[in-house]
Amino acid sequence: MASGTEGINLLLLLLLVFLQHGLVMAEDSVPVPADWPQQFHSVLFINRSGSLQKTDLWYDWPNGRNFNIIQHQLGLLTYDLEWDNGTSFYYTLHPFDETCKVIHFEVGILRPNWLDGANYLGQEYVDTFLCNVWDKVDFITYYEDVLTRRPVMWIFYSGMIAHVMTFEVGAVLPDQNWQAPVYCFPQTQTHNKTTTLLLHSPHAGSSHGMPMRQISHSAFAK
Ligand SMILES: *[C@@H]1O[C@H](CO)[C@@H](O)[C@H](O)[C@H]1NC(C)=O
Ligand SMILES: *[C@@H]1O[C@H](CO)[C@@H](O)[C@H](O)[C@H]1NC(C)=O
Ligand SMILES: *[C@@H]1O[C@H](CO)[C@@H](O)[C@H](O)[C@H]1NC(C)=O
Repeated sequence: MASGTEGINLLLLLLLVFLQHGLVMAEDSVPVPADWPQQFHSVLFINRSGSLQKTDLWYDWPNGRNFNIIQHQLGLLTYDLEWDNGTSFYYTLHPFDETCKVIHFEVGILRPNWLDGANYLGQEYVDTFLCNVWDKVDFITYYEDVLTRRPVMWIFYSGMIAHVMTFEVGAVLPDQNWQAPVYCFPQTQTHNKTTTLLLHSPHAGSSHGMPMRQISHSAFAK
C-alpha cells in the first residue's frame, strides 16, 4: 500500500523534474542577440552583388555618432558619417574628387538594442563559426557567434553581405576624425537660407527610402 503511494510520489517527482527541465530547455532554445557594445570598431568585408568593399565601422553610441569608412576595391575611399540628430554626411577627400552629400533622416543611428525583437531562425555555420541566426523585419539577417556572442556576418535584404573581420569593443575614433570637410558646409556665410534648403533636400542623395537609416547606409552610399 505504502509502496503504491511512494510510486505515485516518485512519478510526480519525475514529472516535476521533467517539466522544470523542459522549461529550462525552452528558455535556452530561444536565444536573443547580444546588444551592441556602446562603442566599438569593426573591420567589415562587404560583398555587394560582387562588388567588394572594406569598411571601417566606428560605432559610438554615447556620442551619438556612427561612421562607415568605405574602401571600394581598387577604387574610391568614401566616408559615411552619421549623427544621431538625423544628419548624415557622405563625402570623399583629396586625392579623390572633393564631393559631399548631406542627407537628413527622420531617425537617428542604431540603438545598441536595435536587434530586440528579432526573429530566431536557429543555428548555422557561417564563415566557419557556429552562429545563432535571426532576421529582423525583412531587413537584415544577423549571424552571431554562439561561443563569443560577437557578430560574424549580416545580410541585408538587398543581398549585400557583411563579414565581420574584427570586433574591438571599446575602441573609439578620436574626435578630430569626426569632422566633415568644409565643402560639406557650403555658402554658410553668404546664402544662409539656401544652405538650409539644400541640406534638407530629399534629392541630395540616393533615395532608398529605408525604414531604418542606420547601418543600411553603407549599402547604398556610393
Ligand atoms: C560576392 O557575391 C556574389 C553574389 O552576389 C558571388 O557570386 C561572389 O562569388 C562573391 N564574391 C566573394 C569574393 O565572396
Ligand atoms: C547634427 O549634428 C552635426 C554634428 O554636430 C551637425 O553638423 C549637424 O548640423 C546637426 N544637424 C542638425 C539637423 O542639427
Ligand atoms: C547669414 O547669417 C548671418 C548671421 O547669422 C548674417 O549676419 C548674414 O547677413 C546672413 N547672410 C545672408 C546672405 O543672409
